[in-house]
Amino acid sequence: MSERVIKVGLCGFGVVGQGVFNHLRKREKLLSDQLGARVEVARIAVRDTSKKRDFEFDASMLTTDPVSIASDPEIDVVCELMGGTGLALEVTLAALKAGKIVVTANKALICDHGERLFTAAKEGGGQILFEASVAGGIPVIKAIKDGLVINRFSSIYGILNGTCNYILTRMTNEGASYEKILEEAKALGYSEADESLDVDGIDSAHKAVVLAYLAYGRWVPYKDILVQGIAEVTQEDIAFAKENGYAIKLLAVIDVAHASGKLYISILPTLVSKKYVLGSVDGVHNAVSIHGDVVGETVYIGPGAGRDATASAVIADVVDATKLIVNGGAGRFVDPAPRNGDQIELAEPEEIESRYYVRLEVADKPGVMAEVASMLAKNEVSLASVTQKEVEENATSATLIITTHYTTEKAILEAVKALEESSSVKGKPFTMPISSFED
Ligand code: NAP
Ligand code: HSE
Repeated sequence: MSERVIKVGLCGFGVVGQGVFNHLRKREKLLSDQLGARVEVARIAVRDTSKKRDFEFDASMLTTDPVSIASDPEIDVVCELMGGTGLALEVTLAALKAGKIVVTANKALICDHGERLFTAAKEGGGQILFEASVAGGIPVIKAIKDGLVINRFSSIYGILNGTCNYILTRMTNEGASYEKILEEAKALGYSEADESLDVDGIDSAHKAVVLAYLAYGRWVPYKDILVQGIAEVTQEDIAFAKENGYAIKLLAVIDVAHASGKLYISILPTLVSKKYVLGSVDGVHNAVSIHGDVVGETVYIGPGAGRDATASAVIADVVDATKLIVNGGAGRFVDPAPRNGDQIELAEPEEIESRYYVRLEVADKPGVMAEVASMLAKNEVSLASVTQKEVEENATSATLIITTHYTTEKAILEAVKALEESSSVKGKPFTMPISSFED
């Protein structure tokens, strides 16, 4: 009997698409032995057919029309690896409507259109798999969907953006400049086509929305989340972190408040204790700590971006897709959020408490320290420490670094706004939470 062939269409042949192609080809025999079917890349969509690629391939597979792959009856599995939410949505919907299995690494797409895509999968008899959309090579979606299925989750903390963690780590270890490291992250294929999505925290927010849906069954618009990127982190902040046993991480917090049961999500540069596992996860690595009521805390660490790591996660989905087809389960889409319908409320800023770090540039004149302390006190923010580095005799401004006792997010946001409006404060103060993880 001839071997069954599962035909894969790659929509996108850039960093991730070429990684998928390369590893599927290298392990073709192993996979076909395991699956009882041969997985074959049959068509590839790109924007520019004349571009030089990193691997040899049959150019007759190329097209500039990814929708034609989505609707091609010969294609069993469509891998959407282009990015964006325009054409990517069109391609994904077309494939799902045609009853195909779509594998995507596109977190923006799942975040913005997950509900619509899951409905299209149910109605069209297709499937959508998106392991690579969160935390690169770490199989964290499988962990939440399958491995932890019996748990209810009290919190998920994550370093979810490889580019940002790579930049922060190298700024910390080498004192290298933000701009230079960002260029290197781009060259390594870590960043998004529009790298502002990474450094402004939006990519992490997309991923946090996906995780929150999987854990709590609610699609939270990412625009409702407090998001701050890493562009304002300076060597002064890093020096403070080092001196005090912290690392600065762009941290996603997805938390259910004990008292109110409300859901809180934020993406903020955060001082994370080096004693806590996430404080020591460096470079392009991501980490996700999940607290489940049955299992306790589980932590997942691994490369969060890059060709091979992401290809590993995409191929895991292609293999699952092949099993569904071979075993006849492709037509039954199972919503990955078993807690669907829990319409959990979102917490308000006055319900969130943390300690905070504030760095501000103040006029170097008498009485400024008292003025700053008074503005913070008016907003119910109590100081834990204040540091001012000695300045030159003729300096006109000085940097103050303040840490606070526990206060609410609302109070710190209002206090910082008041500081920003003060004539004694130059520019915008920089604030970040100080993590409250147990040692
Ligand atoms: P990329 O290197 O920019 O590749 C994008 C590919 O899509 C290119 O081959 C491009 O064609 C093709 N493409 C773009 N617009 C197209 C159009 N209109 N018609 C046909 N083809 C088009 O991006 P990537 O880094 O591989 O990322 C792809 C997806 O994976 C994104 O959703 C990203 O967020 C996600 N992801 C990336 C990583 C990572 O580490 N890079 C990790 C996890 C998830 P040309 O080559 O001809 O320009
Ligand atoms: N640009 C993303 C990152 C790719 O740096 O994490 C992985 O999703």
